[in-house]
Amino acid sequence: MASINDNYLKLKAGYLFPEIGRRVSAFAQENPEANIIKLGIGDVTEPLPQACRDAMMKAIEDMGDRTSFKGYGPEQGYGWLREKIAENDFQARGCDVSPEEIFISDGSKCDCGNILDIFGKNNKIAVTDPVYPVYVDTNVMAGHTGDANEKGEYEGLVYLPISADNDFTAEIPSEAVDLIYLCFPNNPTGATATKEYLQKWVNYAQENGSIILFDAAYEAFITDPNLPHSIFEIEGAKECAIEFRSFSKNAGFTGTRCAFTVVPKTLKGKASDGSEVELWKLWNRRQSTKFNGVSYIVQRGAEAVYSPEGKAEISQLVNFYLENASIIRQELTKAGLTVYGGVNAPYVWVKTPDGLSSWDFFDKLLHNVHIVGTPGSGFGAAGEGYFRLSAFNSRENVIEAMKRITTTFNFAS
Ligand code: MLT
Repeated sequence: MASINDNYLKLKAGYLFPEIGRRVSAFAQENPEANIIKLGIGDVTEPLPQACRDAMMKAIEDMGDRTSFKGYGPEQGYGWLREKIAENDFQARGCDVSPEEIFISDGSKCDCGNILDIFGKNNKIAVTDPVYPVYVDTNVMAGHTGDANEKGEYEGLVYLPISADNDFTAEIPSEAVDLIYLCFPNNPTGATATKEYLQKWVNYAQENGSIILFDAAYEAFITDPNLPHSIFEIEGAKECAIEFRSFSKNAGFTGTRCAFTVVPKTLKGKASDGSEVELWKLWNRRQSTKFNGVSYIVQRGAEAVYSPEGKAEISQLVNFYLENASIIRQELTKAGLTVYGGVNAPYVWVKTPDGLSSWDFFDKLLHNVHIVGTPGSGFGAAGEGYFRLSAFNSRENVIEAMKRITTTFNFAS
């Protein structure tokens, strides 16, 4: 019999979102009349921008004509898309990122996991707590951790607690770590990072030879003009950071699939013989071997994000979800709850009332008002006592969900 990767057996319950899905399906089966509103997984609901749809239609026509037909594309993505990204997302913000440093992919979740292919087995890895579970689970799968303790913390990982006490921004660790995952605007807490704060991390990474894995999938939701959108806006980041970006949340590509990862050519890691190796070369090699690129049609759709029409539509989409977040914040506050985030981010992070655990609050909302959110403890031990609501839904559903909460509960009393 073939042996398995035993590391999978170390994983705690199922991945968070399928687990929520399972509980919701069971409830729906028992209560078929319940009109369940899902504010759990951060999945977009509004239609793809017209500019992206038009570009994809045109690309389909290209595929129907021998002279413009495309077979395999470059594994790293088409040059025309990489150039648009470099210009608009980086150079326009004063970041020295070249198209060659941008690798188009089918998602940030995949890239966050796949990036571990190019790192060694013995790195010390730091994550915040709470955290996007993919960073932790992919390290468990890759054998970078021991077993989980009763709190669900894996042996070998360095957990950096984030809470209201530190504005949901982790303290710089006193010990040296090799890889650090940072996510801003933050999933799940909706917190943001200032340039000064990120500069401290970049300084730390440079002093310790660490690499920052910076997840900026929600950067489009930043409305505060003083906040950085990219780690590469920070002095020195090109020597110590990789950045993950996505078209999922800004342009509604969760079902269409397109993202990109920036690996600067100046970034180095150490081989076991002590020599320094460019991480760009390894990632390029990895992608060329294990990936055949994103479809031509989808990349044309992503390119349209940067057209004047695309930019206007995306800004409308982002504002729409931010307005949802603002309604959620306002109504939950009225219901007597303490809320965080949801200003420069599509997630509202709620303190559970009356000392309820995250899963108890999940059940209370599901059973009493048929609303689904995400229990904070699913994002890590320090997420216990919190609950995440996503602003990705129709206006009608958000208003209805908030009405159900405010008319059913008064948590202040
Ligand atoms: C979330 O709800 O945290 C996101 O949908 C996760 C993701 O984008 O993979």
